[in-house]
Amino acid sequence: MDTFPTTFIYIFLFLSTLLYYYISKKQNKKHKQTPKLPPGSMGWPYIGDTLQLYSKDPNTFFSDKQKRYGDIFKTHILGCPCVMLASPEASKFVLVNSANLFKPTYPKSKEKMIGPAALFFHQGDYHYHLRKLVQSSLSLEAIKKLIPGVESIAISTLDSWANGQIINTFHGMKKFSFEVGILAIFGHLENHYREELKKNYSILDKGYNSFPTNLPGTAYHKAVLARKRLGLILGQIINERKEKKVLENDLLGHLLNFKNEKGQILTEDQIADNIIGVLFAAQDTTASALTWILKYLHDNPKLLEAVKEEQKTIYLSNEKGKKGLTWAQTRNMPFTYKVILESLRMASIVSFTFREAVVDVEYNGYLIPKGWKVMPLFRNIHHNPEYFNEPQSFDPYRFEVAPKPNTYMPFGNGSHSCPGNELAKLEMLILIHHLVNKLRWEVLGSGEVEYSPFPVPKNGLPARFYDRAGQ
Ligand code: HEM
Repeated sequence: MDTFPTTFIYIFLFLSTLLYYYISKKQNKKHKQTPKLPPGSMGWPYIGDTLQLYSKDPNTFFSDKQKRYGDIFKTHILGCPCVMLASPEASKFVLVNSANLFKPTYPKSKEKMIGPAALFFHQGDYHYHLRKLVQSSLSLEAIKKLIPGVESIAISTLDSWANGQIINTFHGMKKFSFEVGILAIFGHLENHYREELKKNYSILDKGYNSFPTNLPGTAYHKAVLARKRLGLILGQIINERKEKKVLENDLLGHLLNFKNEKGQILTEDQIADNIIGVLFAAQDTTASALTWILKYLHDNPKLLEAVKEEQKTIYLSNEKGKKGLTWAQTRNMPFTYKVILESLRMASIVSFTFREAVVDVEYNGYLIPKGWKVMPLFRNIHHNPEYFNEPQSFDPYRFEVAPKPNTYMPFGNGSHSCPGNELAKLEMLILIHHLVNKLRWEVLGSGEVEYSPFPVPKNGLPARFYDRAGQ
């Protein structure tokens, strides 16, 4: 009789051990499947890797990390934990396929400076409607009509350089891209408004990247005041346009004409923020691309000859510039176009972008925790030999074959990709056409790069320009 409970206890112990073993194995397995943070170092407490990033060329910082940890790695910069993505698939995941899990993110001081209603700070309905509107004001149909205006800005810009004095090429190109931006936004704009906008926007531009201390005398404070004045000037332009009651096809016309499905229109502040947002997105990017093109062509005389050859044929058929460029001619500059594509790859002006995870996201077994920043690294992808053979050599001919999908993103990807990309390419083609036909230039810079925040040749690529006719 005594043996029954003992046997029972043994059986019970044996079964519970088995069960415990089974459950703990299952839990272990489950634990193993829990996504982990990507590899990488978070640097020093609080400051993270910020000093490392700012003490060396940011491209070296990113590529050193990529070599050490692979295409997805974590780091900590500017007070934020970040996951950096250097693979085309991961960038596509964040910018296209799962874009709803990530939101655009900018420092508050920058949002305030541009205007919080500018489309690139938003996602969802507001962003969708505004983007459609900006896209249609910059569509191929719309920019075709800008050709004579862009051409006359290009000619007067180049004429003002042609006397052999030293020009800061980047500054010169900024003036050009600003004027083209004004043309696309307002069509014709009275001179006094143009001058007021130019003056105040340039103060805002100087303060944008300064330390955000709002104390009298600082660049930031001056920029905040200039931003207020810009709002007032834009208010006057908007009211004049409303009084005229003429429906224009430029960006301002589109913004004034906006009505959502509930019949709501845009407020004056929303319109002003978006105008300043577009000017901001259009100016330094295009100017930097043009500055790099001048440098690359200068450094590669054979390629410059090929561009000249292509452009000379068009120039001659236009009676040496007496007739203006046509849309068809701008669409048929195949070699110059490839030079632009290759310059955008080499310089990778927008080297990366920022998003923020709105929920915990799992990608390829890695966890991207809610609130972490995510940075698709366009430049690292553009300079990866797996996608671009000998990435450090400037070779426009590589674009005779289309790049692999999602490996070429000078204008970004997905719902926030650049709506101004066709205008940017058009203005570059027009400027190059007149530049190579009318001028020759000597670069005086050392070839070093500085970041402002986009990469530009040091000191804006000082250069001397001479009229070719006077040779
Ligand atoms: C070479 C010149 C340019 C380059 C390299 C460039 C590059 C880019 C990139 C990479 C983005 C996406 C940023 C992101 O995903 O976070 C972007 C967005 C944008 N760009 Fe450009 N851009 C250029 C010229 C222009 C021009 C000429 C305009 C307008 C006239 C413009 C207007 C915009 C706007 C409004 C956005 C925000 C779109 C959105 O958030 O939906 N860009 N640009």
